[in-house]
Amino acid sequence: EKKHKVTIVGSGNWGSTISKIVAENTRAHPDVFEEQVQMWVYEEDVTVPRDSKHYDAVAGDKPQKLTTIINDKHENVKYLPGITLPSNIVANPSLVDAVRGSTILVFNLPHQFIAKVCDQIRGHIVPYARGISCIKGVNVSDAGVSLFSEWIGDGLDIYVGALSGANIANEIAAEKWSETTIAYDPPPMDSRAPSPREGSPNPSVTVTEAVPGLRHRDARGRTSKTKLTGVPAAYPPLDHECFRTLFYRPYFHVQMVSDVAGVSLGGALKNIVALAAGFVDGRGWGDNAKAAIMRIGLMEMVKFGKEFFGETVQSATFTETSAGVADLITSCSGGRNFRCARKAVEKGISVDEVERQDLNGQKLQGTTTAYEVNSFLKARGLEKDYPLFTAVNDILRGKKQVDDIPALVAAVDD
Ligand code: NAD
Ligand code: 13P
Repeated sequence: EKKHKVTIVGSGNWGSTISKIVAENTRAHPDVFEEQVQMWVYEEDVTVPRDSKHYDAVAGDKPQKLTTIINDKHENVKYLPGITLPSNIVANPSLVDAVRGSTILVFNLPHQFIAKVCDQIRGHIVPYARGISCIKGVNVSDAGVSLFSEWIGDGLDIYVGALSGANIANEIAAEKWSETTIAYDPPPMDSRAPSPREGSPNPSVTVTEAVPGLRHRDARGRTSKTKLTGVPAAYPPLDHECFRTLFYRPYFHVQMVSDVAGVSLGGALKNIVALAAGFVDGRGWGDNAKAAIMRIGLMEMVKFGKEFFGETVQSATFTETSAGVADLITSCSGGRNFRCARKAVEKGISVDEVERQDLNGQKLQGTTTAYEVNSFLKARGLEKDYPLFTAVNDILRGKKQVDDIPALVAAVDD
């Protein structure tokens, strides 16, 4: 019997937190997983902060490799300071080495870096690997909009699900209770995993070989070009139970669903709304205005999902799961996009400037997502149908003011 080897691709604020959760669980379930968890770290020279318990007066402010600090001190002093990571996490600066032989790949890095990462690992992973994307963003190209789960999956010829929820990393790293949503809906050949699709084959059938020519229907119900290779029967099934086991902690409750598009879009689009919430809060308009932004934003999120991912996306994913309304609320209360947008308005500087000044290398996803979604809508003449998304983009680009928001969103609502 073989065990699953797990690699976390990414080690930022959320990447390090998810690595902690996963490493606690690989240790707790040695029958299913190899204990050691590989964490790929984008290597950089880091100075240990003077207020850190790992600050060494002898070494002083001399920069050290981030991977060396993590492996020696079991703390990511730059992106998740003050949190002890399990010692079975190995920080690895080599992407290719970190993913080698892993059957489970967890993608957790800012969405602007994923294309380069996928280019580097293509051809270096086992063909029967499966992935989970924790990335909050959408991939926009001339061809249209796609989810990072399906885009990574297509690029690497593997199946990738999505994890998203009301999950501010620092709270979870401190083991404060929260919920998350994992969407995993592999195509029928991965038939040991429960598939909700009508006509899916008998879930008890074990497929160990690739089915030549089998095409995977993606989150939009379209036939994807990915040709999947079956997971060898020697491994524990890579199904809902397996992924729940990998991510569930007493402080991190997991709901497994099948709506990959809804879960991914909730996490991506709420970042645009959180910027708007920060804008109105920065103007001092109070809680009613912020609630109005959340209401209008949620409606645009559902509309976007239905319009462009209509075949499989479920409204209930937006209104009932942690990846939907709960993430919207937490992000509009204390997320980085919200906080940076609020400060930008208060100080009269750009959101990008606040990001550079305040986040110590952490990356906002809302600003790029607002631009990307806008270019997608604009190309289709649909900006007016999404007045809040459009207003956020126009404010970021200096074409509109925060004071214009009420009139801009009223135009469609009335
Ligand atoms: P982060 O904001 O901490 O980003 C910094 C990371 O980017 C670091 O690991 C850094 O090494 C890496 N990086 C910098 N330059 C790079 C490059 N050129 N190539 C590759 N990597 C580079 O990251 P995060 O918070 O872990 O976010 C990852 C994803 O998780 C995002 O999509 C985010 O929306 C999502 N998310 C974040 C939180 C949170 O609270 N932080 C919660 C839920 C989801
Ligand atoms: P920010 O990236 O805005 O901090 O949001 C974090 C998050 O996704 C909370 O669920």
